[in-house]
This record gives sequence, C-alpha cells and structure tokens, in this order.
Amino acid sequence: MLSERMKKLTPYVPGEQPQDRKYLKLNTNENPYPPSPKIEALLKDYDIEKLRLYPDPLSENLRERIAEKYRVKKENVFVSNGSDEALSFSFYAFLDSNNGNLLFPEFTYSFYPVYCDFYGIQYQKMPLNTDFSISTEEYLDETESCGIIIPNPNAPTGIAMDPEEIIFLLEKYPRDRVIIIDEAYIDFGGTSVVSLTDEFRNLLVIRTLSKGMSLAGLRLGFTIGSKELTDALFVVKDSFNSYPVDMITQRISEIAISDTEYYKSVTEKIIATRNVFSSELRKLGWNVLPSKANFVFAGKKGISGQEIYLRLKERGILVRYFHIEGIKDFVRITIGKKEEMDRLLEEAAKI
Ligand SMILES: Cc1ncc(COP(=O)(O)O)c(C=O)c1O
Repeated sequence: MLSERMKKLTPYVPGEQPQDRKYLKLNTNENPYPPSPKIEALLKDYDIEKLRLYPDPLSENLRERIAEKYRVKKENVFVSNGSDEALSFSFYAFLDSNNGNLLFPEFTYSFYPVYCDFYGIQYQKMPLNTDFSISTEEYLDETESCGIIIPNPNAPTGIAMDPEEIIFLLEKYPRDRVIIIDEAYIDFGGTSVVSLTDEFRNLLVIRTLSKGMSLAGLRLGFTIGSKELTDALFVVKDSFNSYPVDMITQRISEIAISDTEYYKSVTEKIIATRNVFSSELRKLGWNVLPSKANFVFAGKKGISGQEIYLRLKERGILVRYFHIEGIKDFVRITIGKKEEMDRLLEEAAKI
C-alpha cells in the first residue's frame, strides 16, 4: 500500500506546539504581539456567504498590495500557503541535480534537505566560519552547483549577511542558476535584497507573514523575483493545487501588508527586547551569537543544549535545541515580550 517513494521520506520535525498553554513558548519563533488590530474588524463583519465560492486563484489584490509595498510589479509576486510552500515550489521549479548540487549553509533551516530528498535534488552543506557567519566565496568555488539557498538572517544562528556579500555572489554566480534568499526573519534588522530582483533575474526572495506580521497561524508566504521565475512558480502551483491561499487569508494578508505603521512598532519592540536580553544573558556568562532575527542562539560552557532545554522545560519554558554536531551546545530562544525574557533570565541565572 505504501509507495517506495513515501517509505524513503524523512519528514521535517517542527518545534513542539503544546495545546495546554502551560508553557512560556519561546521555541518556534512566533511573534509575542497580536496581529494588526484592523484584522479583527474584518473578521467580525466577514460575510460568510462569500465562502460558497472558490478564492481568486491568482490572489490579484493581495499581490497588488505586496507589489506596491515592495515597489515591484504584480507580475513579480507569487503568494503561497506559508513560505514553506513557496520554498517547496521553488525547489521543484528551479533545481535540477543534472546541473550539480544545491548549496546551502551547514547549519540552516532544516526543511531544505527535506525538500531536496522529496524532489530527488542532491545538495551540499557549506561550512560556516568559526563565528558561524557565512562565507560566500566558497560557494563560488563549487563549480558544479544547480543553485544556492541562504536564509538572511540565517536560522538558527540569527546572523545576518551584508547585502554586499549577496551582491558579490549574484555578480559572480552563473545567471542561469537560481539564488534564493529566504528572508523569513528580515523584518528584525537585516537588509533585504528585494530591490536587486529587477537587476538579477536569477534572484528569488522568499518572505513570510508568520514572523514579522504575527500571522504564523494564517499561513501566508510570498516570493519576489523576475517574471520568468514567478511564472514558473504559477505553473508548479497549478500542477499541485489551484487554490492554496484561501479567501480569508488573502483578505487578512492584504490588511497586514498595508498596516506598516503598526508592524513597525511591533518589530521595534522585539528588536529592543532582543538587544537587552542578549546583553543580559552575556553578563551571565553565556555565549550569545549576534542576532538580527526574533530569536537568539545561545549556549553556556559546560552544559549541552539538550540539558539547557530540559532544565528550562522543567521550569515551564520551552526553547529549541538541535541534536546536531557543531551546534549541540546551543539553544535557540525566541524573543518574547520583555517580561517573558526577564523570566527566562531569572531561570538562566540558575543554570
Ligand atoms: C528560515 C525559515 N524559512 C521559512 C520558514 C517557514 O515559515 P512559514 O512557512 O511559516 O512561512 C521558517 C519557519 O520557521 C524559517 O525558519
């Protein structure tokens, strides 16, 4: 009954999502603040009669809003059911192992190898520098590669790349191979390369409303790239599911994308909390990597990430650790509200 294909899959394991609310959840990089208050008004008055019909398969209005905000054309915008789906479609559309391996950082978002296995794409993990930063030169030394994907900032390290580094990569890398920059965490202080998508036709930027816009539960991701790349993503979408983004998600996302002022204040608060939290944790003797994301990657000498995770869990706080050689002495801590981080600091002081 089970296909050989299916039997070979090793699925991605998301962070714990306890349903009993008994934990302080700092493990899946969700935003601690509510989404734009304007969304509430929409939901209160939503005319459910509309749900009889299928949603707009092209998400025209939403793509128009995104295009306006990021100063591109609608034809350069693709929307998806979470950015995970945009990633999945991109892997399918642009990566072909006949042209070599897909390159990505050794420690990065662990869904990338899962999609590679799913689609039969060979990949190569590129070592990070000893300070966990990404060195792009080595990517160019690999002559046989079918594409590159890098999150900026990287996860789980939180370290951001300078746009100059990405420009260097774009200028030197063959223009007929894709470079995907996953900007899931860009709202928290990194510099976006969306403005380069006009010049570099092989650059695809992937974004999500899950982190900066407090809408992880909604599931909306989008991509910005050349018309050629965007059209290809529509072909893939329409070969899987014509309506991945439902009608309510389209409307809510339009509102969120337009409420720049509200989200600016939310991200500023998170950035300020992150900076104070990082320096307080350092004062307690922890090694905290410099983060431009809504999480920090931190460890304490002499204790493994797993132990830290277990000790914090006992005290009602969930963080994430990775049982992977090279990063097993770290935990990834999502930045919550100031009082939540103070609670964690109290517990951290006892470790
Ligand atoms: C680097 C990175 N990219 C993409 C995603 C997927 O986000 P979503 O599917 O919620 O848009 C995540 C989620 O944690 C992530 O860490």
